Amino acid sequence: MPETIVTNNDLAALMDTTNEWIIERTGIQERRFFTAGKDSVSNMAARAAKIALERAGKTPQDVDAIVFATLTPDYYFPGSGVLLQRELGLSRIPCFDIRSQCGGFIYALSVADQYIKSGMFKTVLVAGSEIQSNVMEISDRGRTMSVIFGDGAGVCVVEAHQEKGKGILSTHLHSDGNFAEELCCKLPSSSLADRGLSADAQQAGDLLPYMNGKLVFQYAVKYFPEVIREALTHNQLTENDLDLLIPHQANARITEYVRKEMNMPAEKVISNIHKYGNTTAASIPIALTEAWQDGKVKEGNLIALAAFGSGFMWGSALIRW
Ligand code: ACO
Repeated sequence: MPETIVTNNDLAALMDTTNEWIIERTGIQERRFFTAGKDSVSNMAARAAKIALERAGKTPQDVDAIVFATLTPDYYFPGSGVLLQRELGLSRIPCFDIRSQCGGFIYALSVADQYIKSGMFKTVLVAGSEIQSNVMEISDRGRTMSVIFGDGAGVCVVEAHQEKGKGILSTHLHSDGNFAEELCCKLPSSSLADRGLSADAQQAGDLLPYMNGKLVFQYAVKYFPEVIREALTHNQLTENDLDLLIPHQANARITEYVRKEMNMPAEKVISNIHKYGNTTAASIPIALTEAWQDGKVKEGNLIALAAFGSGFMWGSALIRW
């Protein structure tokens, strides 16, 4: 996580919002913001990757491929995968960039899983990293988005193994482009003559992300339980078999709604959004890492990961740890 902690009161000093409004609507108390010149999407992922590789008893040279999920890449192109590769001192291995927003980590994990199961790769780094504080506006007009989103990175090492019934049991992916504009950042656009970078567009706030909050809420609480149940049914399991649910940290109210809908006790559902806000593609690996560090992830546990977000794109992964 980047070091700078930004509390709700820090934001309230810069825009028309309050600590109470943010906590009531989102459950967020504070988030991290990057430091310009020090943190980048790829170098935060590299720091996370080094910790992950050390914990997995691997070196960067063991990595066969990188799958990098982000909606805030370092550059317009190339993607951040090759930058992470470079940061790790690697060359030649393939790097994939996944543009699936909040669903990014699940999509990335699924890509890694398929390549490993096909036998093409043995060890894959799956990264989620975001610097969102720099693409929002800390102002009255930017307040709907900027109180929700934060910066951070998380990386998992995914490895081939021979133990039947362990590891990633299955992944389930969906999307519906009919809702593309309901949670999006349209500019800069390759389709517009001025790419939307004109002074007028900037002044009008057209480069800022937009979210139809109520609609996103409505679909999130429908698709989260649906896609988790899809994964359970596919594996002939039920929610009673789940030891842990690690949802994308969209909003504490969404997580709470999903928890109740799935009849799960609070201790089985990981929520750390109060500390970090919504870190989009990074939120699941950050939450998984914290749950693991806190001893909540145990050998043999059945763990569901699930996400919903911009696209709309949503998905789940079922893991026997
Ligand atoms: N601080 C204070 N007031 C605010 C803020 C703010 N940051 N933002 C908006 N308001 C005001 C609005 O202007 C509005 O004022 P008005 O009544 O005078 O017009 C009022 O608060 C209510 O605004 P709504 O947009 O109706 O607020 P709502 O209760 O819907 O809450 C929220 C907004 C939190 C975004 C809600 O719609 C929600 O939870 N949506 C789910 C979307 C979400 O959480 N997305 C997470 C990211 S996407 C993802 O990860 C899937």
